Amino acid sequence: MERIFGRCWLFLVHTSQIPKTGDYFRTFMGEDDVIVIRQKDGSIKAFLNSCTHRGNRVCRADRGNARAFTCNYHGWSFAPDGALAGVPLENEAYFGKLDRSKFGLVPVTKVSEYKGLVFGCWDANSPSLEDYLGDAKFFLDVWLDAMPGGSALLGETQKMVLGTNWKLPVENVCGDGYHLGWAHAGAMSAVQSMDLTGLNVGNSGVDLDGGLSVAGMNGHMVLSALDGVSGYAFYPDPKPILEYLEANRQTVIDRLGEVRGKQVWGAQVNITIFPNLQLLPGLNWFRVYHPKGPGQIEQWTWAMAENDMPEAVKAQILENQCLTFGLAGLFDNDDGDNLTACTEQSRGWRTAQMDVYTNMALGRSGKREGLPGDIAAGLVSEHNQRYFYRRWQEHMMAETWAEVPTYNINSLTAQEAEHA
Ligand code: FES
Ligand SMILES: [Fe+2]
Repeated sequence: MERIFGRCWLFLVHTSQIPKTGDYFRTFMGEDDVIVIRQKDGSIKAFLNSCTHRGNRVCRADRGNARAFTCNYHGWSFAPDGALAGVPLENEAYFGKLDRSKFGLVPVTKVSEYKGLVFGCWDANSPSLEDYLGDAKFFLDVWLDAMPGGSALLGETQKMVLGTNWKLPVENVCGDGYHLGWAHAGAMSAVQSMDLTGLNVGNSGVDLDGGLSVAGMNGHMVLSALDGVSGYAFYPDPKPILEYLEANRQTVIDRLGEVRGKQVWGAQVNITIFPNLQLLPGLNWFRVYHPKGPGQIEQWTWAMAENDMPEAVKAQILENQCLTFGLAGLFDNDDGDNLTACTEQSRGWRTAQMDVYTNMALGRSGKREGLPGDIAAGLVSEHNQRYFYRRWQEHMMAETWAEVPTYNINSLTAQEAEHA
């Protein structure tokens, strides 16, 4: 908790979820319950959801609009900027001696936004959010900035409790194309409508030229096909979305360049922002994992869309996200079963001493012109998983941010400098 969730930038909310003054959203930073709220001046602040009197929660709803948060226990009341605004019997019982300015809600140390994504961080010595995201922004922009209207999250939060550690689902999505044709064979035969670089039912083939595993970006990772359409491979009827892609592809090429506009936008893309945020343009889901003790998580999922998409396409996206990676989603239940079983099977005294094996494609990565990161070919490799656990270990070993190593391999800024 201290070295990962107390130190890293953590996703809080998308600005589309709290558009108006007083709109708030309740979330978690690690196991700390946090309220994120839009201020009068349009800025966003975040506070611990913990009354400074005795620690009761001051907000019980998941989201809403509030002019104050009043504690159920003794009635202390807090303004949207966190200030302690009202105390019952203040004069009579505290004899007018209570210094209210000392008992505001505890603010999250830093709150910052990148193109609609709001993050919070407890560590005053962390790098800025822009620096923290680093070259992962190159891929994030494929969702956040491809189209002029930007992006939004759709629908309500889909919450699921899973008996697993937060690292396992991150590992599963950050780089594990290997399980796709096998674990999801049933789901794929039900909904797959086009090829995903040769990843077919039963793992019957793979095309290592058709995708990338990108890591070495300070803990962030990307897995991407390069065909510009396969994000919709698991849509029973991808036609309306493919039409949207083709109608707008030139706009995206103009905004993001050839590689991202032609090959990545519309393709299957898995983006992992260390530690616990994952978003998949293409399959269009967006997810955070909140740890609840060592063997349990709460997984929160939303559908994601571009604001420029026609309403009918957005509706189709929400429906398909629920069908594949929603609470009763075909794919999500395959993953849930495997992840909880891996966790349960590691509880025994002897099984806990076993090693796991993540050597696939070891030593087969390198640089690619125009792309950031250390890159292994294809969607099937354990390249990203190794970097993920390496980053976890680096944070766990470091006392402070100053001791956390930086490795932005093949960084885009360095490439620009080289070409200058
Ligand atoms: S615990 Fe909140 S007012 Fe007492
Ligand atoms: Fe999966």
